[in-house]
Amino acid sequence: MDKRVSSALRPRPGLNDVGYYMVGISKLPGFNQIIKLSSNESALGPSAAAVEAAARVLPQAHRYPEVDLEDLPNSIATAYDLNPAQIAFGPGSDELLLRLVNMYSGPGEEVIYSAHAYMQFPIYAKRAGSTPVAAADDDFRHSVDKMLAVVTDRTRVVIVANPDNPSGTYLPAPEIVRLRDGLPENVLLIIDAAYDEFAGAPDYESATGLVDIYDNLVVTRTFSKLYCLASLRLGWCYGPRHIIDLMERVGPSFPVNIAAQAAGIEAVRDVEHTRKVLDHNARWIGIFSNALTDMGLKVYPSQTNFVLVAFPPAGGKTAAAADAFLKQNGIVGRKFAVADFDDKLRFTVGLDWEMEKTIEVLKGFMSA
Ligand SMILES: Cc1ncc(COP(=O)(O)O)c(C=O)c1O
Repeated sequence: MDKRVSSALRPRPGLNDVGYYMVGISKLPGFNQIIKLSSNESALGPSAAAVEAAARVLPQAHRYPEVDLEDLPNSIATAYDLNPAQIAFGPGSDELLLRLVNMYSGPGEEVIYSAHAYMQFPIYAKRAGSTPVAAADDDFRHSVDKMLAVVTDRTRVVIVANPDNPSGTYLPAPEIVRLRDGLPENVLLIIDAAYDEFAGAPDYESATGLVDIYDNLVVTRTFSKLYCLASLRLGWCYGPRHIIDLMERVGPSFPVNIAAQAAGIEAVRDVEHTRKVLDHNARWIGIFSNALTDMGLKVYPSQTNFVLVAFPPAGGKTAAAADAFLKQNGIVGRKFAVADFDDKLRFTVGLDWEMEKTIEVLKGFMSA
């Protein structure tokens, strides 16, 4: 039969505007092994107990995973002092964020986020058919006033990454409350708290506590960062029952694969491992930030597992030149193809030797 070519098929209006999300580079030509500081992964690797648990269930991979989860939400609820019935799961918090944006906004409606925040936010809005609206910020820190200033009667969702990626900055708890109180009640406030566990600032608070107060606020969390399980794709969301119930109805049929379920339970239990990850992270955020500040670079104070650094915008020491020099030495930070980030690189905390080498190479670059 002849191939039939149809020009009538069209995706939903707006979908063709969705661009590609640029993931971090993980290979360099000429290097068998690179120092990968480009994707905000956790360098120490998963808990041994989590790996063993995942391996143990793999012979059951021919079965569909359980849907009415009990052990996983119970472990999370115990660890974070939450109600297990208010937890929904997805393959990464990425999917949960997209699902939430899709559930509460659509064509002709607006999704507000802070300019320079997580670069998936406008993509989620477009995938939902709604209009992304970037609110100005204050030198890469979210501004509640500027977010509230762009609210219209078409606003349906506001997403705040707290702490934020790629800036590493955060909003103190009273600012989140001020934002929620300033928004119309029919607007969903999503707090994307992928880096929550790393935040140690005295005025930072997990937004999960606000879910008991507001029934139009949800918080997304992940096993990709602190728990070092990025590849298993395990995200969770804490919200009021009416939102969680709808999420479960409209979400994937099998939101969590068996390996992720088994590993997630053990990862939460392995407090010794999470303590190790947190200590390693705090130590290197401090050492790395100080070392780069001493080199004369502008370092954004980080509450996460990465650091955003600004290089001189012109002359020989630009971010592009630093990026090229680092790559010649087998080191990959994150360079964003976005104009406002032209002078910036982001570095995720790596292993001890990786951080030592990165500092040494950057010192060489800055003093050459
Ligand atoms: C701010 C933020 N939100 C959400 C995610 C998505 O994480 P995951 O889908 O692995 O849970 C990331 C990943 O880097 C992130 O930086």
